Amino acid sequence: MKVVDNIAALRAAREHMGGSVGLVPTMGALHAGHIALVKQARAENEHVVASIFVNPSQFAQNEDLSKYPRDIPRDLAMLEAAGVDVVFTPTPDLIYPPNYQTWIEVETVSQGLEGDRRPGHFRGVATVVAKLFNLVQPQRAYFGQKDAQQVAVIKRMVRDLNFPLAIRVYPTVREADGLAMSSRNVYLSAEQRTAASVIRRALVSASKAYEAGERTAEDIRVVISEVIASEAVAELDYVSIVDAETLNVVEAITERPLLVSLVVKMGSTRLLDNMLLPAHLNTLEGLTQTLGGG
Ligand code: PAJ
Repeated sequence: MKVVDNIAALRAAREHMGGSVGLVPTMGALHAGHIALVKQARAENEHVVASIFVNPSQFAQNEDLSKYPRDIPRDLAMLEAAGVDVVFTPTPDLIYPPNYQTWIEVETVSQGLEGDRRPGHFRGVATVVAKLFNLVQPQRAYFGQKDAQQVAVIKRMVRDLNFPLAIRVYPTVREADGLAMSSRNVYLSAEQRTAASVIRRALVSASKAYEAGERTAEDIRVVISEVIASEAVAELDYVSIVDAETLNVVEAITERPLLVSLVVKMGSTRLLDNMLLPAHLNTLEGLTQTLGGG
């Protein structure tokens, strides 16, 4: 496995790759969710490129940029074991040199949900991902359903800017108790970590209510609020029910797939999770069409 930290070396490595290239962008502090993306990329491409870059532009002023977990040696060992060919580990200066001025704004799908709570977040995500696409020129790029709005934003950008690649979406990888794997889970105290399984329980309860014929978004939101309220250390930041393709808020439930997403706060840590309804869309079969159509 080659580790490259400059653009010339990345381009040189890319030139030697015949056949298809799969790209897995990450911010490091890797876990089994990231590795599942890498393995999917490995299975579908001749070459796999991963990036590790804690992207400053996607963190708002008050967020955790400086304390975001970092462990490059451990990350590299995990990527090598998963069969990555090249890892790109740029510094912030390389991605945003002095006088950097060009930003990508994906308009409507960046609004609502996380976009409203994290001003500028998706502008930073779209910009860094576009730069990675230009630098690596992959045939396929891999993203997690865990960050559903991010997937919708990137899919929209790929269509709007004619990037010649396919976006592949991998279902959320979870801990044994159902907590979605996240680099930020290390922020949780033991008590918060135990309580965090309530998030998945709330989503499963919502799915059961949906299957039982609940037909308003409000009723499903109430189910979720009640389950979260049963854990004293968990505070529901928001729960939102949107059309899975447009991300428009829905009130009456129809046949169209829905995205139920929520953020639960444990102290200062925000835990993000979601579920597609009907719930079978979360399986591997949904990989190519999970979200963000149109
Ligand atoms: P990061 O949070 O490191 O996540 C990298 C990729 O792993 C994303 O596509 C994310 O959705 C996916 N992922 C995270 N947790 C997952 C889980 N439990 N199961 C499956 N996939 C999971 O997302 C980012 O970094 C950044 O915004 C990035 C796209 C790299 C741009 O900076």
